Amino acid sequence: MSNMLRVSESNLVRSLVTILRDERTQGAEFRDTIDRVTTLLLADVLAYVPVQQTTVRTPLGVLADGHKLHPDHMVGLVTIFRAGLAMMPAASRFLPVSPVFHLGLARDENTAEAQWYYKKLPDGKKHKWVLLLDPMLATGGSAISAIKALKNWGAEKITLIGIIGAKAGVEAVHFLYPDVDIYLAALDEKLDERKYIVPGLGDAGDRIFGTNY
Ligand code: PRP
Ligand code: URA
Repeated sequence: MSNMLRVSESNLVRSLVTILRDERTQGAEFRDTIDRVTTLLLADVLAYVPVQQTTVRTPLGVLADGHKLHPDHMVGLVTIFRAGLAMMPAASRFLPVSPVFHLGLARDENTAEAQWYYKKLPDGKKHKWVLLLDPMLATGGSAISAIKALKNWGAEKITLIGIIGAKAGVEAVHFLYPDVDIYLAALDEKLDERKYIVPGLGDAGDRIFGTNY
């Protein structure tokens, strides 16, 4: 049992989340801000990435002890379409050789229930640690479907990284999967009658891809 939820206490992250919440933020600025927030969240999450000892020669001609990402403990990256795609460049910058897996889940507009439309988790190498990227955690339905699929696939440790989460979504995920650690930039109080996060930032996918008309 862990029920680990970490909500950023960084003022820089808070200022970026405010830009995302602002209805005037559009297009490239919105995507770029998602990228920046993701980068800052990942700095926390990846503090625990497996490393091995190494040495490098510095310009002073001496050897310095150091660390490099452990080749046998490669972290798998998983994005939930569509909105999770905007978080992937930041993750791939830090973990350039990590494979990226894609899951397609869309909420039904009437019921807000997540429906599968794509899942590509190939057989073969399993990833002990998987980072699941999706900016919005509302009811938790999409994350729960994704986590179930990842566990069936063989992922041992799953870390969910989101930008805004609702309390209800966090509780729903931790009720079923208390071992999944959740990192958020902000935690919002409630959902509206359409199951949108309030105050939230609206429909993340639509704002990222400019389809909010
Ligand atoms: C959004 C978001 C999550 C989901 C969260 O995706 O990116 O996947 O909603 O809501 P939930 O916690 O209630 O499941 P959406 O289904 O709107 O698809 P989109 O990214 O393609 O717009
Ligand atoms: N999906 C979003 O993009 N926003 C919400 O507020 C809820 C689900």
